[in-house]
Amino acid sequence: MSPLPLVVAPSILAADFARLGEEVRAVDVAGADWIHLDVMDGHFVPNISFGPDIIKAVRGVSRKLFDCHLMIAPADPYLAAFAAAGADLITVHAEAGPHLDRSLQAIKALGKQAGVSLCPATPVTAIEHVLDKLDLVLVMSVNPGFGGQKFIPEAAEKIRRLRALLGGRPIRIEVDGGITAETAPIVTAAGADTLVAGSAIFGKPDYAAAIAALRPAA
Ligand code: DX5
Ligand code: ZN
Repeated sequence: MSPLPLVVAPSILAADFARLGEEVRAVDVAGADWIHLDVMDGHFVPNISFGPDIIKAVRGVSRKLFDCHLMIAPADPYLAAFAAAGADLITVHAEAGPHLDRSLQAIKALGKQAGVSLCPATPVTAIEHVLDKLDLVLVMSVNPGFGGQKFIPEAAEKIRRLRALLGGRPIRIEVDGGITAETAPIVTAAGADTLVAGSAIFGKPDYAAAIAALRPAA
């Protein structure tokens, strides 16, 4: 199990973009710990979402940690723009470029927390030699690009291996894709401490109840 308290991070990818500010405020008030921001470039992933200007536009709406998931390649030329837009934590994909260590150094030099995301087919060993630069590892439990996909069960074994690899280090394990009230207990039991959910929150009428339903039963 994780030594760190559970974080629930609603992904605004599933929000009503016509009312984005209100949607961010609504999940903040409903008990979101972080706000998860999915940036897609139509190149690294087969979909396009939004960039730094949208993040900057909603930054004023919430004081919660802005968790910026960059599904873009290359990422390095844009890191400063996301930092300036208000990202607190910037996660790059291990598969997005040949110089992961350099990307993590660049995020740290901007004064931000750093994360690495692993696609379903990428082994946990991809992060073995950059642990000293990591605040978070994001395990994708779907192939990145779209909300509303089905959870890939193999992610649980991957989280268990990652938890063993991380030892007692205060590095978060975040899971993203197909997280619902049914799959959340599977990944937290495996060692995840940070849950991203898009459709399981924004697809429900009561955001507070939907967020509460992802936390372990008291
Ligand atoms: C997928 C994104 C996810 C997505 C999750 O590429 O990284 O954050 O919004 O959506 P759900 O929770 O609907 O699977
Ligand atoms: Zn994401």
